[in-house]
Amino acid sequence: MDNGTMRAAVVERYGPPEVAEVRDVARPTPGPGEALVRVRATAVTTGDARIRAARFPTGMGPMARLGLGLTKPRRPILGGTFSGEVESVGAKVTTVAPGDRVCGMNGIRMGAHAQYVTVPAARLVTVPDSVSHEQAAGVLFGGTTALYFLRDRASVREGATVLVNGASGAIGTNAVQIAARQGAVVTGVCSAANAELVMKLGATRTIDHRDGGLDRLTDRFDIVLDTVGNLSVASGRALLADGGVLLLAAAGLPDMLRARGNVRVGTSKETAEAFATLVHQVADGTLEVIVEESFPLDRIADAYRRVDTGRKVGNVLITP
Ligand SMILES: NC(=O)c1ccc[n+]([C@@H]2O[C@H](COP(=O)([O-])OP(=O)(O)OC[C@H]3O[C@@H](n4cnc5c(N)ncnc54)[C@H](OP(=O)(O)O)[C@@H]3O)[C@@H](O)[C@H]2O)c1
Repeated sequence: MDNGTMRAAVVERYGPPEVAEVRDVARPTPGPGEALVRVRATAVTTGDARIRAARFPTGMGPMARLGLGLTKPRRPILGGTFSGEVESVGAKVTTVAPGDRVCGMNGIRMGAHAQYVTVPAARLVTVPDSVSHEQAAGVLFGGTTALYFLRDRASVREGATVLVNGASGAIGTNAVQIAARQGAVVTGVCSAANAELVMKLGATRTIDHRDGGLDRLTDRFDIVLDTVGNLSVASGRALLADGGVLLLAAAGLPDMLRARGNVRVGTSKETAEAFATLVHQVADGTLEVIVEESFPLDRIADAYRRVDTGRKVGNVLITP
């Protein structure tokens, strides 16, 4: 870092992992109500990968491109989650000060795949000293989504039977823990290689999706959470017990239009309340953050390659 520049991963066209080019760019300046955060850890998420590749859920492409950029990303520095220290603050910021350890999510502003990012100060939460920047950056994407669906859209409670499809991913590793901690009885669908991890996180049983998976299942569940996108409204409903709730986190447009009543879709809410809830659970040891690998910023293309497999375990991070 010198003379107002910083290293950042810049995506100037939609495409494969290599379109993320690391170079020197101008360091942003915090505007009124904003803080400049020195990024210590940021996740490369399935959300970032979808934007980088313009690979959106079925039927969502035109709407997503309108919001994110028709022919290339409107905001070329991707990265929605971060943890780091406040470097400086803009006018009218009273809630955080330089040196504070903070984390958060930056919505469609993104910009966290860089050494510095500007963020509305109201969206920042304190990272407790006992929580590392890697843990904080790792928990936010999957954690906010798991909380949104299981807590806010389905009120998961003690004794409920919960099926988590994609239990070893970013959403899944959080969802299994959140449901199990509420006293739910959790079945996780993942590959055999990740079964031990998913059991350790609180599942009472795992199902190998390569061995017949859900097709062979005769059980019915109070809550079914699909994070993979291979359940439809019809196939998901078939797995529900009476009064059960189907949560489709990766739904395409047709299922979004069909979803009503006990079938719930939507976009998780990136609230400071959710960030704070998650980092405090990490601090008190009730939520474990699964990080498969941390890469330096220069290797962001390798991080994207791993994310693009659809098989990462928990989270892949960048430590700029
Ligand atoms: N609605 C929202 O607000 C929201 C928010 C965040 C993300 N999302 C979406 O949710 C999806 C999942 O995100 P993520 O970050 O959790 O993904 P991820 O970390 O890539 O995890 C995917 C997991 O799915 C498992 N898997 C792969 N194929 C499977 C199959 N056929 N059956 C069952 N499990 C399978 C993999 O486990 P194994 O390796 O063990 O096979 C992997 O652990 C993405 O499409 C993302 O865009 C939606």
